[in-house]
Amino acid sequence: MSTKKIILSILFLAVVSVVVTSCYKDREELLYQAKAADCTNPDAQGPKFAAVELIMKSECVGCHSAGGTSPDLSTSCNILSQYEGIYNQCVVLKRMPQVAPLSTAYQTIIKDWYDAGHKLTD
Ligand code: HEC
Repeated sequence: MSTKKIILSILFLAVVSVVVTSCYKDREELLYQAKAADCTNPDAQGPKFAAVELIMKSECVGCHSAGGTSPDLSTSCNILSQYEGIYNQCVVLKRMPQVAPLSTAYQTIIKDWYDAGHKLTD
C-alpha cells in the first residue's frame, strides 16, 4: 500500500467514526428527553397538565398543601404522583373538594388529562 492510500484510509475511518458516534449522542439525548421530563420545569408542562394544576391551585391547595391535609397538591411533582386520587376523588366519587363537587367543566379538564396519560407533557 502506498503512503497516500494509508493516509486516505485513516482519514476515511476517522470521518466514519465521528459520524457514527455523533449519531449515537443525538439518539441518547432524544431518549433521555422522552424518559424524564423534569416535573419541576414549568416549560415542560403540556396544556392539559397546566389546566389541571390551575384547578389544584384554586380549588384544592387551600386544604392540601405542605403541612396541611394529605396529599399535598401544591407542587407539579405531587400532582403527577397523585393523579389516581385526584381523578377518583373529583371525577368518579365526586368527594373533593370537600365543600362541594367541582363544576362539570373542571371535572372534564381533569378527566381529559387522566385519559391522555396523566403526564407532565400532556
Ligand atoms: C375544605 C378542605 C378540602 C378541600 C378544598 C379539598 N380537600 Fe381533599 N381532603 C380533605 C380532607 C379533610 C381529606 C381527608 C379526609 C377524607 O378523605 O375525607 C381529603 C382527602 C383527599 C384525598 C385522599 C382521599 C383518600 O381517601 O385517599 C384526595 C386525593 C383529595 N382529598 C383530593 C382533593 C382535590 C383534588 C381537591 C381539589 C379539587 C381537594 N381534595 C379539595 C379536605 C379538602
